[in-house]
Amino acid sequence: MPKVLDGATIAAEIKQDVAEEVKALAARGVKPGLAVVQVGHVPASEIYVRNKVQTSKELGFLSEHITPAETVTTEEMLALIATLNAREDIDGILVQLPLPKQVDAKVLLDAIAPEKDVDGFHPVNAGRLQAGRQALAPCTPAGVIEILKRSGIPISGANAVVVGRSDIVGKPAAMLLLHENATVTICHSKTRDLGAVTRQADILVAAIGRPGFITPDMVKPGATIIDVGINRIDTREEFDKFFKGNDKREAAFAKRGSVLVGDVHPAAFEVSGAYTPVPGGVGLLTIAMLMANTVRAAKIRRG
Ligand code: GUN
Repeated sequence: MPKVLDGATIAAEIKQDVAEEVKALAARGVKPGLAVVQVGHVPASEIYVRNKVQTSKELGFLSEHITPAETVTTEEMLALIATLNAREDIDGILVQLPLPKQVDAKVLLDAIAPEKDVDGFHPVNAGRLQAGRQALAPCTPAGVIEILKRSGIPISGANAVVVGRSDIVGKPAAMLLLHENATVTICHSKTRDLGAVTRQADILVAAIGRPGFITPDMVKPGATIIDVGINRIDTREEFDKFFKGNDKREAAFAKRGSVLVGDVHPAAFEVSGAYTPVPGGVGLLTIAMLMANTVRAAKIRRG
């Protein structure tokens, strides 16, 4: 039976470590400050933002939830970012994506002071990460590394295959794995004979954004699978593709009308040695790593 790498347990460990650091900073009169900027009301953002704000409060941060109107302009947002950049008590600035069409997300994200960029999306942080300098790394890929390390899965010398090349997950995940001495391959939609590549993976990171894309034939028996995908399934036809005969998921589907599936087909997990489930895997780490990044930003800037 493959081992389930439980995101909740690992997230709790990380938050415990963050709480210790908050205590140490408090002794020096420093309270980590996080500003979460949420524009308008994107339904998919509501739960994430609520969790980010609530977790930061629970950990004893100064926590600000700023909610500009849906109609806000790029200029108004830039003014807000400039204010937050200048504030001594704010260590981390997070602008929740997606943003409304009239706001230029790239201009905005590039305006965040790199030392306060706790999402790790700023090109300066991407460059620092690439160059092996001290950087704030994006939370989800940082969470992938934490799961592997805290679960005792060897990274050094392993063949790590990352499927997906986004700036937010695939590329930084590959870079972080490389820094941990994995032999790293990045695959994408144009990769020839993808299965032949993924079957070489001791560690397979799936970050494609397509439900159940990784099938059992693409997995080396005993490999570790990290499933970064979160896809909502809301039709019976799709449900049956992934969860036919799964009583627990059937009950969830009947109750809510939808269920979540990762980028890995559930049958592929059975071939693995260990895997992160969806839900309950990597997703829970992202918020914990945001907290860790905020404390780190506070320590670097004024610790
Ligand atoms: N929207 C979905 N995920 C994220 C994230 O990690 N950071 C931000 N800023 N927005 C998101």
